[in-house]
Amino acid sequence: MKTIISPSILSADFANLERDIKKVENYVPWLHIDVMDGHFVPNITIGIPVVKSIRKITNLFLDTHLMIENPIDYVDGFIEAGSDLITFHFEASKDKTIDTIKKIKDKNKMAGISIKPKTNPNEIKDFINLVDLVLIMSVEPGFGGQKFIEETIYKIETIKKYSNNPNLIIQFDGGINDKTWKPCKQKGANALVAGNYIYSSPDIKKAIQSLLDT
Ligand code: DX5
Ligand code: ZN
Repeated sequence: MKTIISPSILSADFANLERDIKKVENYVPWLHIDVMDGHFVPNITIGIPVVKSIRKITNLFLDTHLMIENPIDYVDGFIEAGSDLITFHFEASKDKTIDTIKKIKDKNKMAGISIKPKTNPNEIKDFINLVDLVLIMSVEPGFGGQKFIEETIYKIETIKKYSNNPNLIIQFDGGINDKTWKPCKQKGANALVAGNYIYSSPDIKKAIQSLLDT
């Protein structure tokens, strides 16, 4: 399976978002939108109105990464705005993990569950076969441009052990470049998010190709 590449617009220029989305549009299938609330993570980024505006200017699949408390309360809003995939954090969904997944799936959208670097993957074993995607965070969520945490790679094997879905998407997010992606891919990850690596490159097309060639 070809790696699904999702450039993170956290590394784009928010005053020139359309321009920066157009820079990647022809080379990737997905766009990664990082939503932060200043509670679950110590940073605030973008929300529902911005997703709505992005939906109007691109046909890319909108991969929405919610780093927010009580994600269930915002599922409808993001789906109405145009998100195609909603990934929420297991650590933030508390006793509503199954309900959150159901709410997304009932609207015929893809559901993803994410874990922070220090969260043990065994904690999500009961949910792996209910979602379309598992997002393994390879940095502490909150900021772009951080260093990849190698100690997260083992989680791929644990996730695969519990999964009975041959189409499960295992995505990595944080510090991904052509070097750090290699061991993730080798262990069976099939989707990546890259912000800094793609957007700080002088040749975006080449940077994306280098990830596909890894
Ligand atoms: C971090 C975000 C990431 C971030 C990745 O909390 O979830 O999506 O944009 O950025 P890089 O690729 O620069 O680590
Ligand atoms: Zn993200």
